[in-house]
Amino acid sequence: MAFNIKVNDNTHSIDVDGDTPLLWVLRDVLGMTGTKFGCGVALCGACTVHVDGVATRSCITPIDTIGTSEIATIEAIGATAAGAKIQKAWLDREVVQCGYCQSGQIMSAAALLSSNPHPTDADIDDAMSGNICRCGTYLRIREAIKQAAQ
Ligand code: FES
Ligand code: FES
Repeated sequence: MAFNIKVNDNTHSIDVDGDTPLLWVLRDVLGMTGTKFGCGVALCGACTVHVDGVATRSCITPIDTIGTSEIATIEAIGATAAGAKIQKAWLDREVVQCGYCQSGQIMSAAALLSSNPHPTDADIDDAMSGNICRCGTYLRIREAIKQAAQ
């Protein structure tokens, strides 16, 4: 089935089954491998992208639910004001360890700052609680979000 989807301000024509997860479309059809596969069942956050600015688990988002929504991925998040601040803070605070979870972490953090430029600790915990990091970088993530919010 043919779909036109808008990813990072570019429209792509794709031909996949309607129940194909957005994650597979991004990675396998469009070759955008910055978005990661972790659990596949919305439990880890590694696959987080933005759909109309909202942090969304792409592993459980069928492509036929996207319609005309705007998708943003880690490849382009630095072009947004919140994303650029988050990326700088991530580098300044040396957040990353193995890195596997980090594109999802950054996408969730950027969505938080876009909607709430000055989050409280509780806001941060709430927004980031679904993003798992096996390396335990949570404290640096929180500090980096606070830096980006200053
Ligand atoms: S791969 Fe989507 S939440 Fe884990
Ligand atoms: S940095 Fe390794 S899983 Fe998060």
